[in-house]
Amino acid sequence: MKITTCIFDLDGVIVDTAKYHYLAWKRLAKEKFNKDFSIHDNEQLKGVSRVESLNILLRICNEDVPEKEKQQLTDLKNKWYVEYIKRITPDEILPGVLKFLEDVKNKKLYMALASASKNARLLLERIGLTYLFDCIVDGTVVTRAKPDPEVFLKCAEELGVEPQGCVVFEDAIAGIEAAHAGQMFAVGVGDKHILYKADMVISSFKEIVIDNVVNLPKTKKNE
Ligand code: BG6
Ligand code: MG
Repeated sequence: MKITTCIFDLDGVIVDTAKYHYLAWKRLAKEKFNKDFSIHDNEQLKGVSRVESLNILLRICNEDVPEKEKQQLTDLKNKWYVEYIKRITPDEILPGVLKFLEDVKNKKLYMALASASKNARLLLERIGLTYLFDCIVDGTVVTRAKPDPEVFLKCAEELGVEPQGCVVFEDAIAGIEAAHAGQMFAVGVGDKHILYKADMVISSFKEIVIDNVVNLPKTKKNE
């Protein structure tokens, strides 16, 4: 099927906020439980909602807290995270992204943003890219976290396109799985050893041109 739509995750794909999420979770683990939270552990949190991230962190740290305290912990993590990202500027857009987004626009493909983050619109505004997207689906409207395909399927529905003609760009294992669960193509952005389930893996957008995306139907892995 012809590719009609490119769907982009935000954190770790368009802008490197993954490192700020990591710093805030690591700080929470240290200050609240005196535990070290490694960059390797952090892979499991990428693309995962705020509250589910806390549950994973608690499991990794071998800690448990009453349900009512979880809100305080996620609020604290978000407070630190928002402090970290307050200073983000368009300079932090990842290499090759702007050029690639412009190519997608010129090719007359739809462009959607699909993020689990409740801070997604704030971030997009800060980096000045809101105007490029035909559709934005974020953590304020999604009820099921990746690897559930809801966030991507909502984009397809809003745009009135078939999921099979959508390509998702993701830095998270859960996001690759979610794309495939939604019958979409998945391009992994990051380490090919971690994102090996993707139909194609790039370490940065400098490595890809729009024609690679249009030719993806020949390389689909999940069929
Ligand atoms: C995802 C990030 O995009 O958004 C996760 O990859 C994060 O690490 C999730 O937990 C939720 O973000 P926020 O900003 O709503 O806490
Ligand atoms: Mg991400």
